[in-house]
Amino acid sequence: MMGHVGNDVVDLCDPHIAGHFERSRFVARVCGAEEVARVAASDDPHRLLWSLFAAKEAGYKVVAKMTPGIAFSPRRFIVNAASTRVTHDQVELWLYVTHGQEWVHAIAGHGEGEPVWAVERRDAATGESVAARDLAVRLAAGRLGLAPATLSVDRETDRRFRDDLAPPGMLHDGQRLAVDVSLSHDGPWVACALL
Ligand SMILES: CC(C)(COP(=O)(O)OP(=O)(O)OC[C@H]1O[C@@H](n2cnc3c(N)ncnc32)[C@H](O)[C@@H]1OP(=O)(O)O)[C@@H](O)C(=O)NCCC(=O)NCCS
Repeated sequence: MMGHVGNDVVDLCDPHIAGHFERSRFVARVCGAEEVARVAASDDPHRLLWSLFAAKEAGYKVVAKMTPGIAFSPRRFIVNAASTRVTHDQVELWLYVTHGQEWVHAIAGHGEGEPVWAVERRDAATGESVAARDLAVRLAAGRLGLAPATLSVDRETDRRFRDDLAPPGMLHDGQRLAVDVSLSHDGPWVACALL
């Protein structure tokens, strides 16, 4: 079975999320008991809370590919203390969490191979979805030695998913590549991961 990858970037400077670490009901809705304790004991609870959230959402994007239509219940995704694994019931995924000054990015997945990923600030005139696809195409073109113009990202219509669209796939000259892709965007940041 082909591996799957999921990613999520969070804009840590977004004023809408600045105080969430102090809202105990929100923290308890997102985190399990051990994660709540970790946030409470942290020197930087804001960054830790959103790192956990990003890890859970990255995990969700993988589980959603394995079980189309599943709902996102962040609390059911458990992140280990070292932030190297995220588990959902019996499904255990590897996890990489990377920190930028203004963002945190998580990649989760299963299967062989090392994921490749990128986070960048989008040009304000370019929409989030377009910028994330452009980043994924550039990353894939560089890794695969293909011309960017021959690559594209698409999402097929699929009624099993909540927005009636399947997770994104990477195409080369219109043919689906055996490369799993994940996109994410938040405010000024766009990100992608490939496996
Ligand atoms: C997948 C989801 C969690 C992403 O949320 P988000 O924080 O708004 O967005 P992000 O920027 O991190 O990621 C969006 C990208 O994820 C990808 N994506 C969307 N649905 C996906 C899925 N089911 N699996 C994997 N990737 C998915 C898309 O490429 C999307 O970007 P695009 O719209 O530009 O194509 C959200 O769209 C979703 O489907 N939530 C489920 C709703 C739910 O279960 N609610 C629970 C209460 S009932």
